[in-house]
Amino acid sequence: MLNIIICGAPGCGKGTQSDLIVEKYRLKHLSTGDLLRKEIARKSDLGIEAESFINKGNLVPDKMIFDILSKAIEEQTKNSKGIILDGFPRNVAQAEALESLMNSLNIETGLLLDLQVDKDELVQRLLKRGETSGRCDDNLITIKKRLEVYETKTAPVSDFYKNKNKYAAINGMGTVDEIFGRISTVIDSKL
Ligand code: AP5
Ligand code: MG
Repeated sequence: MLNIIICGAPGCGKGTQSDLIVEKYRLKHLSTGDLLRKEIARKSDLGIEAESFINKGNLVPDKMIFDILSKAIEEQTKNSKGIILDGFPRNVAQAEALESLMNSLNIETGLLLDLQVDKDELVQRLLKRGETSGRCDDNLITIKKRLEVYETKTAPVSDFYKNKNKYAAINGMGTVDEIFGRISTVIDSKL
């Protein structure tokens, strides 16, 4: 079993690369952003509350995330080749909560992939996607805030996994296939 975290700034390609990883390695994809957007689309209480954080570029409260994710992690790791966590953990408190959940399930996080992309490229990718995505956070003001939140809150998660020797930096510049080739090399070395 291989449980992977895919991490990196907004627009670095977490979702794009997760789809390819799922296809090749048959892992289950758990994206907290996608789960939250589904709640927003169905206008649930949780979705309405989450939207007020997301459209400002802030993180939603940890408890809300953990409530929707912990059951999913438990279910998706049963009889599976593993999971890929996309967009979680997003701060050190979430990383600590994830590690205790994994311990209680008797499984482990194998690897954090950190996709590294230049800031100008991130902004260009997100603005381009914003032309058609309908996402409430794909506009310049919110993109800038998301990048700031990433630097202050999410980047320290890398050190958390570096200290556990479970960290791999990936050059996230180039074509989707080139980047996937780099990711595959790292995953293959862990199998
Ligand atoms: P989330 O949905 O996780 O968004 P994000 O981290 O801002 O990242 P994106 O999904 O925008 O980008 P991505 O890295 O997946 O890149 P993609 O492959 O789409 O979170 C949204 C919000 O939800 C957060 O701000 C927060 O409020 C909340 N949230 C989520 N998780 C949370 C948590 N754990 N705790 C608290 N709050 C949480 O690619 C981007 C674009 O670039 C696409 O158009 C793609 O086609 C294109 N692209 C991809 N690769 C390339 C390439 N190589 N070259 C050119 N274009 C490319
Ligand atoms: Mg995404």
